[in-house]
Order: sequence, then C-alpha cells, then structure tokens
Amino acid sequence: METKDIKGLATKYLTRNYGRQPIVLVKGRRSSVWDAEGKKYLDFVSGIAVMNLGHNFAPVNKAIQKQMSTLAHVSNLYYTEPQVEYAQALVDKMHKGKLFFCNSGAEATEAALKLVRRHSIETFEDKARTEIIAFKGSFHGRTMGALSLTGQDGIKKEGFGPMLSSVKFVPYGDLEAVEKAINKKTCAVILEPVQGEGGVNVPKHSFVQGLAKLCTANKIQLIFDEVQTGFGRTGKLFAFEHFRVKPGIVIMAKGIANGYPMGVMFAKDDVAKSFVPGTHASTFGGSPPACAGALVALEEITRPELLENVRTMGRYMLLKLTGMKRSVPTLKQVRGIGLMIGVELGIPGEKMVKECANAGLLLNCVNEKVIRFLPPLNVTKQEVDKALNIFGKVLGV
Ligand SMILES: Cc1ncc(COP(=O)(O)O)c(C=O)c1O
Repeated sequence: METKDIKGLATKYLTRNYGRQPIVLVKGRRSSVWDAEGKKYLDFVSGIAVMNLGHNFAPVNKAIQKQMSTLAHVSNLYYTEPQVEYAQALVDKMHKGKLFFCNSGAEATEAALKLVRRHSIETFEDKARTEIIAFKGSFHGRTMGALSLTGQDGIKKEGFGPMLSSVKFVPYGDLEAVEKAINKKTCAVILEPVQGEGGVNVPKHSFVQGLAKLCTANKIQLIFDEVQTGFGRTGKLFAFEHFRVKPGIVIMAKGIANGYPMGVMFAKDDVAKSFVPGTHASTFGGSPPACAGALVALEEITRPELLENVRTMGRYMLLKLTGMKRSVPTLKQVRGIGLMIGVELGIPGEKMVKECANAGLLLNCVNEKVIRFLPPLNVTKQEVDKALNIFGKVLGV
C-alpha cells in the first residue's frame, strides 16, 4: 500500500485524537526504524519509552512467540506458570509486596486509585479518606480516574468534565504545599519520580525523601508512577532507587515487555490485602505471552552493563546538549536523568521535531516547548553522536 493511501484510510477510518507525523513506519531494528519509502530514521522516541531494548529484540520476541503457540490466553479464572514466574522475578527486584496485572499505564493508575480508597476505608474508623494529592504538570493516563489525577488542563481535560472532585493539585517539588494540602480525608499522594509528559522535570532528592516521610507520618499511601521512568529508563531499574525510598505502591507499564502491551501495580502486602475476589479484575491482565516476554526483558534490563550504558550515554548527552546551549539562544535548559532527557526551547518545538524527522531523527515535543530524547537503553555512542549532530544542525549550532 502506498503512503498516501495509508494516510487516506487513517483519515477515513480512525478517530482524530492523535497529532501524527506524516510518516508511515514499516519496520525497526535496535535504535532505527524505516518508513514505507525505505528511509531510515534514528528512533529517539522508542514508542514513547516502550522499546527500551530497541526494536525487534529477538530474545523477548521469541519468548512471546513460543508462549503464543503454547497457550495464549485463559483468563484469571485459572493459574498459569508464566504469570507467577514473572511476578516472583519482579517482586524479587523490588521489595516485599504483591502485583496486580493489567494492560496499560492508565489501567495501573486506576488499580492504584481503587486500592488506596478501599484500603483507607477498611483501615480508618471515620471511613472517609478518599482524597488524593497529585502534582501540577503530572500525567497519569487518559481514563477518567487517571485523567482526574493528571495536573494538566488544556486539550487533555477540556470538555470531559466533571473530573473526580476528590483530587488536590500542588506544585511539583513543593513539600510545604503538600503538607498544607493534607487533611483528615487524604488517603494518598501520587508522584512521578521524574515528570515525563510535563516536560522532563527532575525533582530534588530532599523533596522525594521528605514526601516519603510526610506520607508515613500521616498514614498516607505514596503511589510512585513509574510508567515512564521504570524498567531502566533513568539508569536504575526504577527511579525510586535514586531517591533511596521504598514506595508502598508502584505503577508500571510501557517498557515492561518491550512492545507487548502490559501494565502492573505493585502494592506492599498490608495494602494489597484490600483487593479480595471480585473487587478488581482485568481479562487480559498478566497474560502468558506478556509475562513470558516481560521475564526475558527484565533479565536483560537488569544486566549491570546495560544500566551502566544508560547512565554513561545519559551523562554524555546531557553534556553535549548543554554545550549547544552556549551558542543557541533558543535553547533555554537541558535536564534529565539517564536516557530521559528534555531540552527546553524558548519557542514551540513542533517545527524542530519535523525538521529533525526530515533529517532522519525521530524526537517528540512535550509541554509545547520541550524536545524529549528517549532512545533505547542499548543505544550506542555512534548513534548518539549521529542524533546530536542532526539535532545540532537543525538548531543551527
Ligand atoms: C507517567 C505516566 N503515567 C501513566 C501513563 C499512561 O500510560 P498508558 O498510555 O499506557 O495508559 C503515561 C503515558 O504516557 C505516563 O507517562
């Protein structure tokens, strides 16, 4: 099918909720993708932090294919070995707790939202702790509960109201504001350890550590949204490790199974016990192929050399991009951690994203002015140099 025909069919048959680049992608390998005309691009979007091991990572693909032809789906009315095997492997890398499997980040957010409410209602005598504190600039998903926790107005929320009324938004990084927002009805705080869609905002260690202490002191659950930061993206398996805190609830998705849809909510045992039969469910959650792929992905992501590559390449990119700042006045700030990097411009970034794509580099723009770099975790220095060279030329360095 020709590119123009594919675009025509998309216009005719698909809802119009995505602002797409005029590119039809047909195949990928490691950090590269090819379009229908055979043009090669360096992919520094990685399916928005999903293809952490790069495109077409054979060990994960093989595990999924093998499981598909053995047993693809049976529902959670039964037990399967891949599900418990993966659950054990993942919890072993975290701290004591239990998992609920689903299929996306928004679903993991919903699971956490339901769990903290039910847990607080079972725990406190006044039975009235239903409020959640979330942060301005946050993003937790597009379903109604997750959207209600998302601290970004504009097109994300406009026209979809009313949102859940029991959510209070405070500035990201402002511990005092959290303290002031807490009251007798607060049951949880939800935090992205690095805000992704909000513009790659990295908080101070003292803020995250202080928040963890504040939540413990007030018997409030702290939900870490690691949907974007998890699975090696920041140079550790989970971003919470940088801050030396052990969150009671962690939500995950995106990079878990290197392209196979999957979501997970982790909760420590005393909170997880509030989910009893019938309280929550997902038809596809924890399917055998997803778990088989995720197990192989986890083994690969936790290889020390891979995580070291994330840290080294991340530092190198920060250094190089910061260097560009000196000669380019439109480049306002470079920030990030590991291979989650944002370049804030003084002007809207969409034009630059298009120019980079024309020159063979895929990037995306968040929060209007922040160009985001999310290459696969096994990206090479050669690929990074090539990408920075393209970006620099487009910037006019
Ligand atoms: C931090 C965070 N949480 C939740 C989500 C929602 O995930 P999904 O699109 O899989 O529902 C995203 C997606 O970008 C995210 O970045």
